[in-house]
Amino acid sequence: MSNASLAETAQAMVAPGKGILAADESAPTIGKRFASIGVESTEPLRRDYRSMLFSTPGAEQFISGVILFDETLRQSMPDGEPMPQYLAGRGMIPGIKVDQGAKPLAGFPGEKITEGLDGLRERLAEYRGLGAGFAKWRAVIAIGEGAPSDYCVHANAHALARYAALCQEAGLVPIVEPEVLMDGPHPLSRCEQVTGEVLAQVFDELERHRVELEGIILKPNMVVSGSECPAQAGVDEVAEATLRALKTHVPAAVPGIAFLSGGQSAEDATAHLSAMNARGPHPWQVSFSYGRALQAPALTAWGGKAGRLAEAQQAFGERARLNGLARTGGYRPELEAA
Ligand code: 13P
Repeated sequence: MSNASLAETAQAMVAPGKGILAADESAPTIGKRFASIGVESTEPLRRDYRSMLFSTPGAEQFISGVILFDETLRQSMPDGEPMPQYLAGRGMIPGIKVDQGAKPLAGFPGEKITEGLDGLRERLAEYRGLGAGFAKWRAVIAIGEGAPSDYCVHANAHALARYAALCQEAGLVPIVEPEVLMDGPHPLSRCEQVTGEVLAQVFDELERHRVELEGIILKPNMVVSGSECPAQAGVDEVAEATLRALKTHVPAAVPGIAFLSGGQSAEDATAHLSAMNARGPHPWQVSFSYGRALQAPALTAWGGKAGRLAEAQQAFGERARLNGLARTGGYRPELEAA
């Protein structure tokens, strides 16, 4: 794929008013999500749940692309159409999670390194053949006493850049996801500092690996207070600290930033995104690539029951619509359905 078409795909992923649905939970993670509603995770139920999300009426107005897990990329809709073809037919670009998970980093207790580079070139070629237009790799950085270490940040930035270069070679837009976790008692200022350090190293490595910034999407965390911090920053503080970190470290050549929700409530994730867009225009599109913040209300409404598909779709469609509004700064908490 030419650089021009990579850039075109990246721009479509962050088209105005739209964002990405992250539905790429690995088998253990979707197992946890299903367990939270008392549902056993089986292959047919995972297919039913995800095809329910994808076939939500009107979703394509607000959803530009969907990140899939390997199993889902190979599954079919109830009428037998392969899921990636179904999504593409509705104007939602199918993407694929290609990392193989965050594993303990030897010698650095409590820190993690994301695996999956071995054989990645061959897997990317297969995924492209199956219809994927983009890929995702998530690095995980924890904040704690003495953490993150510089070594952990560097090792993860290096792996993200190697992944991104391989994606572009294969004609896939890489979503580059360095997630600074919100777990811990640290204040927002510490999250801002670590997020800045991580972004600096990620863009340094991307440049060294000759990655074309016009053909990537950055998927960062927002700068928030640690989840156990007694003083939780408000919406304006989160928006301003996040924009500060991004403006300092993310080159304008990057077409878009699509945030992860990372354990924020659905309402907070939407409010934060809206507050950032209300402060625009920015050098890049400021969008969403939420998993939990888009799916949680739908998962609860569904509850594993075939008879509740319509309610679940309504819940998902509503979150997609509100996040679509947040793309222009037009979300208000009063818009949440009573
Ligand atoms: P959350 O929005 O639930 O953090 O998920 C996004 C994601 O894709 C994590 O890799």
